[in-house]
Amino acid sequence: MTRVLFVCLGNICRSPAAEGLFLKHLQQAGRAGEFDVDSAGTGDWHVGDLPDPRMRETAARHSVSLPSRARCIRPEDLIEFDYIVAMDHQNLKDIHAIKERLPSATAQVLLMRDFDLDGKGQDVPDPYFGGHQGFEQVFQILDRSTFSFLQHISQ
Ligand code: 4NP
Repeated sequence: MTRVLFVCLGNICRSPAAEGLFLKHLQQAGRAGEFDVDSAGTGDWHVGDLPDPRMRETAARHSVSLPSRARCIRPEDLIEFDYIVAMDHQNLKDIHAIKERLPSATAQVLLMRDFDLDGKGQDVPDPYFGGHQGFEQVFQILDRSTFSFLQHISQ
């Protein structure tokens, strides 16, 4: 079983969409049974909430379901997951700060858009304070990044 955790700030926009899209690619590849997939936030404002209604609407338009409720990243995640994929450089920094305090941490901590051929190394922009167009753009970025990430870890 390969365990993958997607992480953003609030866990209501970017990382639940990454989780849903990665699950979609797994299902299309007939490989959902090989993976345990989850998402989390570095902040705790939305713990227990469903994804933002604008992201749920965007996902529904593309027939992608977003099954998870928001939760905070925990130190144990750095031990239990094989891959932790950060949406932006601030998330990456926050995750590394947890990892440095935990000698037993084994997770590989990665940046989502390092797998995006069209924007390698960039942040997945935070759509929370923007309009609907931002959500569609983020959804497209995550669709191709999660696909390439699956190819990368399958090599
Ligand atoms: P996310 O977006 O990190 O993609 O889930 C945000 C959601 C909520 C907040 C910030 C970003 N917030 O400040 O509540």
